[in-house]
Amino acid sequence: MSAAVLTRRHCLHLLGGLAAPAAARAAPARSTIRLSHVVARQTPKGLTLERFAQLVHSRSSGRIAVEIYPNSQLYGDADEMQALQLGAVDMLAPSLSKFSRIGFPEFELFDLPFLFEHPQQVRRVQGGAVGQALLAALSRQRLVGLGYLDNGFKHMSAQRPLRTPAQYQGQRMRVQASRVIAQQMRALGAQPVVLDFGETRRALAAGVVDGTENPVSNFWTQDMHIEQRHFTLTEHAYLGYAVVVQERFWVQLALADRQLIVQALHEALVWGNAIARQENAQALLALRESAGTHVHRLTPPERQALQAATAPVYAALEQRIGAHWLDQVRRDLRA
Ligand code: LMR
Repeated sequence: MSAAVLTRRHCLHLLGGLAAPAAARAAPARSTIRLSHVVARQTPKGLTLERFAQLVHSRSSGRIAVEIYPNSQLYGDADEMQALQLGAVDMLAPSLSKFSRIGFPEFELFDLPFLFEHPQQVRRVQGGAVGQALLAALSRQRLVGLGYLDNGFKHMSAQRPLRTPAQYQGQRMRVQASRVIAQQMRALGAQPVVLDFGETRRALAAGVVDGTENPVSNFWTQDMHIEQRHFTLTEHAYLGYAVVVQERFWVQLALADRQLIVQALHEALVWGNAIARQENAQALLALRESAGTHVHRLTPPERQALQAATAPVYAALEQRIGAHWLDQVRRDLRA
C-alpha cells in the first residue's frame, strides 16, 4: 500500500480500529454508497471516483453499488459536508481547502502559495507524518479519512492577464472558503469572494466576480473559458482532495466490505494520481485550441514577483495553526 494514499497504520485503524456493531458481523448484505461531488465527470476527481465505483462493483459481484452524483447535482460546497454528517450522502471527496470550514484549519497548509513545485512533493507530505495526522484528526468530527487525490496546480483567470501584482489590483476573485487563499488574493491586491464552485460560472457571467483560480481541468470542464478572456499559467498553488466517509456509515459495514472498499479506493487513487497531470494537460490543449481565451506563460521574474508578494501568507497561517505543522512540512520537503 503506497504511503501516498494510506499508511499501513492508518489502514489498520480504518479496518480494525473501529468496533463494528453486532449486525455488521452477519452475512455480507447489499449496500449502496452515495457519493456526491462538485466537478464534472471528465476531471481527475470525476474519473477516479468512477473507476472506484467500477472496482467496487466488480469485486463485490454487484453487491455493493457506488452511486455517483457529480457536478453539484445533489450538494454544493456549502452543504455537502453537512449532508455527509447527517447521513444524506455516504462519501465525499472535497478539496483539502474545504476542511477548514468544519474545524480543520491545518488542511489549509496545502493552499499555501508556491509551497510545492511538483506533485511528488505533495505526495511526500501527504504520505508523511503531517498528511497522516490530518486524516486521523478527521475522527474529531466523526469522519474517516480514506486517502488523498490530486487535481493539480492552479492558475489565474480574468478578463485581463494576471502576470504582475499590479494587474491584480481591485480584481474580485472567486475563492474557496479557505483563509489562506483569501489572504493570498489580498496579498496580491485582489478582493477574494467566497462562492460555491457550482456557482462560479454564473457569477462570472453576471459580473459578480472578475476572475478565478483553478486547475485547467476544472476551468475547462465548467466552460469558464467562455466567460474569461485571459488565463495566466501561474501554477501558484496546489488543489487536491481527501476522500471521506461518515464514521457511523463506515462501522456498520462488514469488515470484509470495508477491506474491499479500502483496497478498491487505494487502487483508484493511485490510478487517479497518475492520470491527473495528463487530464490537466489535455484540458490546456483544448483551451489553447478554443482560441477565445489567451493563455499566458509567466517569465521567471514575473513568477518570483508573485511569490514575493504572497510570502506574508505563511506567517499568517503559522500564527493560526502553530509553527510545528509548517516545520514538519519543510522537513518532509527536504527529506
Ligand atoms: C473549487 O471549489 O474550486 C474546487 O474545490 C472544486 C473541486 O472539487 O475541484
